[in-house]
Amino acid sequence: TPLTDLNTLRLPARAARYAEIHSAEQLIKLVQRGDLAGQRVVVLGGGSNVVLQGDLDAFVLHVRVPGRVLVDELDDAWIVRAGAGERWQDFVSWTVAQGWGGLENLSLIPGTVGAAPIQNIGAYGVEVADRFFSLEAVDLKSGHVLSFDKASCQFAYRDSLFKQPEASGRFVITSVSFRLPKAWQPVTGYADVARELALQQIDSPSAQDIERVVTAIRTRKLPDPALLPNAGSFFKNPVVSAEQFQRLLAQWPQLPHHPQQDGSVKLAAGWLIEQAGWKGQRLGPVGMYERQALVLVNHGGATGDDVLRLQRLVIEAVHSKFGVTLEREPVLLARV
Ligand code: EPU
Repeated sequence: TPLTDLNTLRLPARAARYAEIHSAEQLIKLVQRGDLAGQRVVVLGGGSNVVLQGDLDAFVLHVRVPGRVLVDELDDAWIVRAGAGERWQDFVSWTVAQGWGGLENLSLIPGTVGAAPIQNIGAYGVEVADRFFSLEAVDLKSGHVLSFDKASCQFAYRDSLFKQPEASGRFVITSVSFRLPKAWQPVTGYADVARELALQQIDSPSAQDIERVVTAIRTRKLPDPALLPNAGSFFKNPVVSAEQFQRLLAQWPQLPHHPQQDGSVKLAAGWLIEQAGWKGQRLGPVGMYERQALVLVNHGGATGDDVLRLQRLVIEAVHSKFGVTLEREPVLLARV
């Protein structure tokens, strides 16, 4: 089965075995029949955070579980659940339209609901972990449905339990629930959002206002994968020690940075890549996007090997200029 249309970088690859999953029950049957036994299992949602390096000798499970529902109304929050296959953007718009704020800063992020907790998607001061309630996943080892609360997901910056190799082929997320506070407060601290609200002279924004503003910012800065294939930020923003940060700042006073709770400092990978000369540059069919150097784009006909070649050059360029080692953010689905 060809996977080229199922990954937003549009990298060519085929799956030896493939099934669309529409419910947890269907998946449990697959396990019980032994269809997955002894095989490498690869789970695919919207395909917006993967690098496919070639044909996969694996059983690819394309999760398409539908549904979205208000499951509970607490004194202080709405509990809302969605099937893992729902499009994240549609789910966010729906919650905001229902009057349940909380996810609006995460508007227009590509991908599915089921993928959102895996890399703990985040933007403009909010990440999934902040609004997460619980998720259900099928354990391919036992064939049972397991429920994970927030602590057991081990959320961190663009990371969770489900991104670890031992968990990624084992737990298939089938639905996710979110806790959306009734005492909603706008999150407007992020520079781009604050600037846009000020420009539009909005003093006390509604969730709809923020959805609109975030959508406008993303549309301006980030390439639409349907038009220019990409997987969003290709590197994580690197975190360095306070000492290393002071040394870097002395040399580059403009260095964008965000201090972390533990004293370390998060740097802007996009800025480092731009300074290292890679913004808007191409290497064969791939390149770093001209308006956001952190986004690797496929200008047409690229393979996973092309992507990994550019990855290596960008990491080397940033390392030799700043002594900082960038890490890829999307998951590599390697040939072997
Ligand atoms: N910058 C540059 N040159 C560039 C790109 C950025 O100088 O080419 C500078 C900007 O001027 C700014 C700083 O770097 O001072 C940060 O840039 P931006 O606000 O665009 O955000 P980012 O750190 O590059 C992160 C997330 C995005 C998320 C935005 C908004 C990561 C890896 N990326 O990007 O997430 O949308 O913040 O919150 O954390 C994603 O993960 O796929 C993603 C798009």
